[in-house]
Amino acid sequence: MTVSKICCIGAGYVGGPTCSVIALQCPHIKVTVVDISAHRIDQWNSEKLPIYEPGLDDIVKKQRNVNLFFSTKIEEAIDEADLIFISVNTPTKTFGVGKGRAADLTYVENCARTIAQVSTSDKIVVEKSTVPVRAAESILKILSANHKPKVKFQVLSNPEFLSEGVAVENLLNADRVLIGHEETADGLLAFKELSNIYLNWIPEKKILRTNTWSSELTKLAANAFLAQRISSINSMSVICEVTGADVSEVAKGIGLDSRIGSKFLQASVGFGGSCFQKDLLNLVYICECLNIPQVAAYWQQVLDMNVYQKSRFSNKIIESLFNTVTGKKITMFGFAFKKDTGDTRESPAIHVAKTLLDEGAQLNIYDPKVEPEQIVKDLTHPYVTDNPEKVIKSIEIHDNPYTASHHTHAIVICTEWDIFMELDYEKIYSNMVKPAFIFDGRKILDHDKLTTIGFQVHTIGKR
Ligand code: NAI
Repeated sequence: MTVSKICCIGAGYVGGPTCSVIALQCPHIKVTVVDISAHRIDQWNSEKLPIYEPGLDDIVKKQRNVNLFFSTKIEEAIDEADLIFISVNTPTKTFGVGKGRAADLTYVENCARTIAQVSTSDKIVVEKSTVPVRAAESILKILSANHKPKVKFQVLSNPEFLSEGVAVENLLNADRVLIGHEETADGLLAFKELSNIYLNWIPEKKILRTNTWSSELTKLAANAFLAQRISSINSMSVICEVTGADVSEVAKGIGLDSRIGSKFLQASVGFGGSCFQKDLLNLVYICECLNIPQVAAYWQQVLDMNVYQKSRFSNKIIESLFNTVTGKKITMFGFAFKKDTGDTRESPAIHVAKTLLDEGAQLNIYDPKVEPEQIVKDLTHPYVTDNPEKVIKSIEIHDNPYTASHHTHAIVICTEWDIFMELDYEKIYSNMVKPAFIFDGRKILDHDKLTTIGFQVHTIGKR
């Protein structure tokens, strides 16, 4: 078999960009991305894509309806494909055994059942979603128990390491591509088919071959290590605030050690995003199921540190504003979980907003890429409030940072968007209530300059 048709199930933050880049780099392959959400597919087929990623619009415009297709005809796309990516969501379970910790594999399982039911020819099924260790085994069991006569399946693990906001760059110049396969001759052949696709633009030395379980665990381990770096530097930020050390100086000092390296050492309000928390919870749960509570506790601490950091920042805002924010207007700059994305899943901004709303503050929110409906949806979610009407009355969403800061008592930086570094803070200061406060949760502004203008500046990891 030489792969000429690919189907990707799940047109989300992973499926969309990944397949757009495959279509770009492999003009000889037809790539069809399918989703149960007709709305999402309509958006992929429109001028305004459902997700914002630098560079993605151009690729989609170039390849769409050439060799890249977005469709809701799931069964048709599966049956005609040689290779199928499963890129559906694997959220934390909200019910039953493992509630709040284990990964919910319902969507992955549904995909496996559909693939088994509709496939009339052999398929390579590639697990791209982040899953618990040994999930490929479960997928294979479902496929093997439900397939049509003479149809054979191989299941590969090919976790995705892209980072939102730089997804296209990550996909074009991946640090590595990891492919785990069953340790059989057919497993090896399937590995070769998938690696041949990547070899169209990824150097061979960057393609890593492992057994399936190593590949699955590597994805969870990578996210755990990345989150751990953030929690580690955030723990140092607490010490800095108490002692008078400066966490940026500490980060530079340790980052220059080549054994440690400088990346992911920026102290902040805490990490967010759809993956770190979910994958760590999943790892902790797996350790508990494996009866290794010491390891579970070790990784749980990375999550606990993150909750502590978010709470510390929110509490600092309230304390600094003379211990009450009731009726005060506060501007939030940024709502996405990080810059260059419109994704708000697990964004620290939600935690900060919730704390301030609970204390009776009025919020003016500005984010360059998050849709107003998404902000309302996040802040009226049952996890955030039991009084959505009150929240709606307490927030104003602005499309301009200057109007958003008009007549407010404080600005809170929740996302490190570049645009926040370029604003005219003298103009902003002149229109704010005095004393005017800035809480820089991302450490991106020039604090000396702001202090000279007259702002009361508070940040993280520095007194
Ligand atoms: P997402 O929620 O943006 O997209 C998943 C899509 O799958 C949704 O559009 C949903 O409608 C669709 N879907 C669910 N069940 C389906 C079914 N049976 N048939 C067809 N479509 C179905 O999720 P995202 O962020 O793309 O993540 C996907 C997976 O990739 C997750 O396991 C995640 O952990 C992993 N991942 C995510 C990264 C990220 O930065 N977002 C990075 C690396 C991995």
